[in-house]
Amino acid sequence: GAPVEIDVTGLEQGQLINVSWRGRPVWVFRRTEEQLEALEEIASELRDPDSSSGQQPEYARNRHRSREPEVMVLVGICTHLGCSPQFRPDERPSGVDREWRGGFYCGCHGSFFDLAGRVYTGVPAALNLEVPPHYYIDENTLLVG
Ligand code: FES
Repeated sequence: GAPVEIDVTGLEQGQLINVSWRGRPVWVFRRTEEQLEALEEIASELRDPDSSSGQQPEYARNRHRSREPEVMVLVGICTHLGCSPQFRPDERPSGVDREWRGGFYCGCHGSFFDLAGRVYTGVPAALNLEVPPHYYIDENTLLVG
């Protein structure tokens, strides 16, 4: 499939948009400063906080799992059995009895992930959410694919 071009000019802090790439949902999300700080603070709750299991391109194997720190790009498919997790930037989902600084919750079997798509320990999913290949054509234009 062809790469998808996304204008991120209007993407506000805290906002998530959903696009389709190769028939799969892809989320593009602009994190706030506070949400970026939470990525460090939540690390001890996560199975693979350093992204060592290869679920992202090499350039996104960093503390924010993206090219630009603020802008997260994720394939919106649970790494357990493929359901679509919900975006829960603020409120802790019911049934989650853990430190919660925003993230994604999969209602199918109760897996959850932080705002970099990193999986928590002790949930059915074993891998972080996938980061698709992504590039900036210019500062306002993101290319996924
Ligand atoms: Fe998401 Fe099973 S498919 S927890």
